[in-house]
Amino acid sequence: MKGLILSGGAGTRLRPITHTSAKQLVPIANKPILIYGIEAMVEAGISEIGIIISPETGGDIQSAVGDGTAFGAAITWIRQEEPLGLAHCVLIAREFLADDDFVMYLGDNMLEQNLVGFVNEFETRRSAPELGSENQLVAQILLTKVDDPSSFGVAEVDEQGAVIALVEKPEVPPSDLALVGVYLFDKTIHDAVAAIEPSPRGELEITDAIQWLIDEGLEVSHDILAGWWLDTGKKDPLLECNRLVLDTIERQVDGEVDDASEVEGRVQIGAGAKIINSTVRGPAVIGENTVIENSHVGAYSSVAGDCTITNSELDHSVILANSMITNVPRLVDSLIGSHVVVGSSSRVRAGIRLMLGDHSQIELEG
Ligand code: G1P
Repeated sequence: MKGLILSGGAGTRLRPITHTSAKQLVPIANKPILIYGIEAMVEAGISEIGIIISPETGGDIQSAVGDGTAFGAAITWIRQEEPLGLAHCVLIAREFLADDDFVMYLGDNMLEQNLVGFVNEFETRRSAPELGSENQLVAQILLTKVDDPSSFGVAEVDEQGAVIALVEKPEVPPSDLALVGVYLFDKTIHDAVAAIEPSPRGELEITDAIQWLIDEGLEVSHDILAGWWLDTGKKDPLLECNRLVLDTIERQVDGEVDDASEVEGRVQIGAGAKIINSTVRGPAVIGENTVIENSHVGAYSSVAGDCTITNSELDHSVILANSMITNVPRLVDSLIGSHVVVGSSSRVRAGIRLMLGDHSQIELEG
């Protein structure tokens, strides 16, 4: 079995963070989302992994992942020149995938559940078709109940539990079962992606390709997801995901903590980091070479490497690398990009001075 991870896409919902970096590289507990996907595949015994990248962000993704040996994987890079849809990714990965079964994984999705059971179930069902089923199983999808099915691909499942229809972002959803971004296919999917037409949004939809399999009378099974799942392409789900992952970390202090500081609970502090006259309350992670001085970092915060936090207090926030926060009395529920400077000064007259990138969002106290 091979793996195909989709890491193209513009990430419009996470702008401005994604103006300069790929959404799949946004860190959760200081580790890029995409790396969790690669690790989950390797854990499920899949080491030959193709990664789809775009011309805009592909270089950054390649630098972050390397050749995959650090994760026990061999990576093949596949460039998608234009974002023409998830099924288009399968089309251009034809040579890499050959006739093998594969797991397709959307690089901005995070799952609590690992892939081991999902993959084993597909292999078992394919080698021993269920009694009474005359059709060959060609695909397996993962579903979960959501409050806003119109934002996802939605499945209609009959009373016997068979998937009978799939529709992408329907205005009137046939159920509340959304397609999670993890799919299992055999080689039949290549016929499907070649047969379908682009959707109204101009993309070849994987949802339509799976519908094609169903229309051909082939069997598509499904699993209901256990545990949480987040499509991390937006700020609040991303903070939520950060919170859930931080809940699982162990304490590890590699950096320096001076006598005037307190580091409470499950906190990870990277090598070269310095905590000076400050408190850090876990669960929290502080990246390598970050300096926290005269500050308080509250629970459920992730501060990446090479940041400086001085005379400030932050809570439940994600700060990307190389950012500087100075004299900020209380920063909460925030996602701050890399190389950002946030500060306040008493020297200048009252008022708020801002320099914000396109698509920035700020909420001021009313
Ligand atoms: C894609 C799929 C959709 C699926 C979702 C899961 O949507 O088209 O069927 O439910 O991922 O994350 P997109 O993120 O491209 O809007």
